[in-house]
Amino acid sequence: MNMGQPVPVTEGNFSALFAIPPIVGGTTTLTAQNVTANSNEFGNVKGLGYSSGGLLGPTIKVNSGQSMNVNFVNQLNEKTNIHWHGLKIPANMDGHPENFINAGGSFNYNFTVNQRAGLYWYHPHADGTTGKQVFQGLAGLVIVNDSEETALNLPSGNRELPLVIQDKRISAGSILYAPTMMDQMAGLMGQYILVNGVYAPSHNVETAKYRVRILNGSNARIYNLALSNGASFTVIGNDGGLLATPQTVNSLTVAPGERADLIIDFSSMGLNSELFLISKTFIGGNAQGKQEFKIMKFKVTTQVVDNFSIPTTLSSIAPLTESMATKTRNFEISNVDSGSMSGMMMHTINNKSYDANRIDELVPNGAVEIWTFDNTNGQEPHPMHLHGVQFQILNRTGGRGTLTALEKGWKDMALCMPGEKVKIIVPFNGYTGKFVFHCHNLEHEETGMMGQFQVS
Ligand code: C2O
Ligand code: CU
Repeated sequence: MNMGQPVPVTEGNFSALFAIPPIVGGTTTLTAQNVTANSNEFGNVKGLGYSSGGLLGPTIKVNSGQSMNVNFVNQLNEKTNIHWHGLKIPANMDGHPENFINAGGSFNYNFTVNQRAGLYWYHPHADGTTGKQVFQGLAGLVIVNDSEETALNLPSGNRELPLVIQDKRISAGSILYAPTMMDQMAGLMGQYILVNGVYAPSHNVETAKYRVRILNGSNARIYNLALSNGASFTVIGNDGGLLATPQTVNSLTVAPGERADLIIDFSSMGLNSELFLISKTFIGGNAQGKQEFKIMKFKVTTQVVDNFSIPTTLSSIAPLTESMATKTRNFEISNVDSGSMSGMMMHTINNKSYDANRIDELVPNGAVEIWTFDNTNGQEPHPMHLHGVQFQILNRTGGRGTLTALEKGWKDMALCMPGEKVKIIVPFNGYTGKFVFHCHNLEHEETGMMGQFQVS
């Protein structure tokens, strides 16, 4: 069996979607530990979690301006840490790969959340164990709220649905992480698509508009989200919060690490009708995982009158322009070395693989820079991520050519499909210190596709 090929979901397999428990306010304890989770048809599955409750961790809800005080305990038998993906926080709180907590240790993550409302997330980032630990279940959401967003009265309560979409390999009752050389090349994909830790979930909905907030928390799989009836849906936000204006789409490509804030409208659907969130095939060169498959089911069980209409203006976003930048840096991301010495696939940025002792880029604090990721000659997609900043995407040349609805506004991820060159503009207006940037295909990251920049 090909462990990277999604297993088709059949009727009878569906079970209720797991609602990830929220923690309101930034004060909590997270304990990385071995868990046994009920993930639907597999019965009990062994994996990792941040509480004894199962895979993943609680959704932490904070208001912009509030502080986070997370007492983190490492009960694993190996090093780990927490990276707060998308948050602009001090370097020593950011979960740098060399800033890890040994087995049995603990650490207090303490910082203030000073940024826009949005869907951010947390996951391990220790050098050498990131891919494995994320795959085995360590990840969680951070929902930041602010007054600009509250004023919009977006669907909330049971009409706000955070979804963590991930693919897993499950074998002999455990989440199996054992990448082959081929998996290191393409990134590791699993045959079971889980949402909030559950395989083949089904969720009962009302005839209303829902705010569906999606994290692609997969190691390597790209999804091209669509609805099974072909209906359009609306993108209202992405990595860095709300877009300026809503964007209507029929499908949406979401790469590992990216977030998509969507409005899905069930109001014209009949009682008892069903709709699937699916992944459709997409354009992406040799990229693996382009089959069409189902992700989850929505079932309309209650008829209501819903008066919500999507605001025509969501947020005010000042676009950055090329002339604001004082420097351009180019990153060649299309090379792969077979790494014959180590027997391991190696991925590089500008022909260099990650070295903890090397600073690749020195960035003056406060600078605005253009960074270009060039995958023109590449064979694999690379979703590139910078720590400690939010940026805007200026343009894409080659491949898909244009920017997608998800690529407007503020971002911390930029997907470069094979043949593409993507230009971003980055204000380094967060904190000084040493941060990493890397491909968020976690097997690529683990095999060297990561660099360091120092802001000072
Ligand atoms: Cu979510 Cu350095 O990553
Ligand atoms: Cu990559």
